[in-house]
Amino acid sequence: NFKKPTAVVIFGASGDLAKKEIYPNLFWLYKDSLLPENTIIIGYGRTNLDIKKYLKETIIQKVNLDNDDLKIYDEFIEKNHYITGNYNEEPKFKELDSKINELMVDPNQNIQDCNRVFYLAVPPKVYPNISEMVGKNCRAKEPFLTHLVAEKPFGKDLETSNELSKSISRYFKEEEIFRIDHYLGKEMVQSLIALRFANQIFRRVWNRDSIESVFINFKENFGTKGRAGYFDEYGIIRDVIQNHLLQVLTLIAMEQPLSESADDIRDEKVKVLKSIKAIKLDDVVLGQYAKNENGTPEQQKGYIDDEGVDKDSLTATYAIIILHINNERWDGVPFIISAGKALDETISEVRIQFNQVPANIFKNYCRRNELVIRIQPNEAVYLTMLTKRPGMDFVVEETDLDLTYAEKYKGLYVPKAYERLFMNIIYGSQISFVRSDELTEAWRIFTPVLHEIEEKKIKPIYYQFGSNSIPEAENLIMTKGKYSFERF
Ligand code: BG6
Repeated sequence: NFKKPTAVVIFGASGDLAKKEIYPNLFWLYKDSLLPENTIIIGYGRTNLDIKKYLKETIIQKVNLDNDDLKIYDEFIEKNHYITGNYNEEPKFKELDSKINELMVDPNQNIQDCNRVFYLAVPPKVYPNISEMVGKNCRAKEPFLTHLVAEKPFGKDLETSNELSKSISRYFKEEEIFRIDHYLGKEMVQSLIALRFANQIFRRVWNRDSIESVFINFKENFGTKGRAGYFDEYGIIRDVIQNHLLQVLTLIAMEQPLSESADDIRDEKVKVLKSIKAIKLDDVVLGQYAKNENGTPEQQKGYIDDEGVDKDSLTATYAIIILHINNERWDGVPFIISAGKALDETISEVRIQFNQVPANIFKNYCRRNELVIRIQPNEAVYLTMLTKRPGMDFVVEETDLDLTYAEKYKGLYVPKAYERLFMNIIYGSQISFVRSDELTEAWRIFTPVLHEIEEKKIKPIYYQFGSNSIPEAENLIMTKGKYSFERF
């Protein structure tokens, strides 16, 4: 596929996602000569837009150009086109199809068509319409490929997600649908498989015999920042836990796949998801951030002060959940997922805490070993160990075996998640995308508890913007989660 001409169509081209991620990442790939040579980009949206002006004035602020790049940016602009239309307006989709054909006809090379990527950067409620319109009017002619890219949220629960999948699958085969979970494009998430299955020392201990507890911790030091219109309908569990953090968990917990292929990996992910019991309300603590009168100007606004949020909104901006995997490897090991907005720092990491040493002779010094995989910021893997502190005294203390990427891989470029995902979409690799059975399982695990929270109108615990954590959540982490904070 590498050399095949490609048309990328962005639905919702004037929206936030297109502005923040899609256009800048396409440009970076173009700049690094990673897009197929003959690529065109067509924005499609309901808003009238002069795309060349938009790229020149607005997107340019997102791409960090230095002077040498200006010429390349101008070239990139020339690859862009735009169509204004509604998402159910068939004549406009016919126009889109003709436009792609017209831009692609190259008599010298006898090219009649191209691979086509249709990116749904729009709210999911219009996915069915667009899929139908594209399916009926804009598919590439074989042997060229048609790829449909969908962003989360894929529904709000199992039922709505299944409906959405059903309507899309009328027009697209599973291998043509690329469901994005951008966490799967992150460097450290990509490297989990290597860490787990290429290292004998980890393979042997990666189970209930040696691991006490697994803690996936996600914190952001900012609030919903004007995204409340979306967020208030979904809440933190649907925003990051049911997708991003559950994906990380499956990669930590799955068995070794038969090979590195996308389907072998996803088969194992589905198996482990099937072994996770649906979550119980007793294993959940919910929070909502409140204003912090002594904080920065941003922190002086609570969640309910964000525009569009009801003053009595019960939406959780923080949640902690304990999950259990019912299989031979993990029976009895709690998996803790904690995620919150408006906390004290921005961090995303996995902490694997090992058992206490049996018959330990260093009573005063013993801590548990812990393997930490820091997804962001500053990608790192480190293992806390106990060693004798150098010196005349015999003091056992904790230290780290530290693989910080910025040190170890100085000068090596770490691709951004969307750059990598775009490459996969364009060249047709499903390895970092969510298959429909994975999605169904993910919703099965979360739907009952989400419904119960909503039906019973469970009140979140309020925490101040900038807090380190919530005491009730810490309590759950230490009791049911069996996680020890003693090293801090
Ligand atoms: C998005 C969520 O999917 O992921 C956001 O909607 C969240 O609420 C974001 O902030 C976190 O991902 P990243 O890559 O920006 O840290």
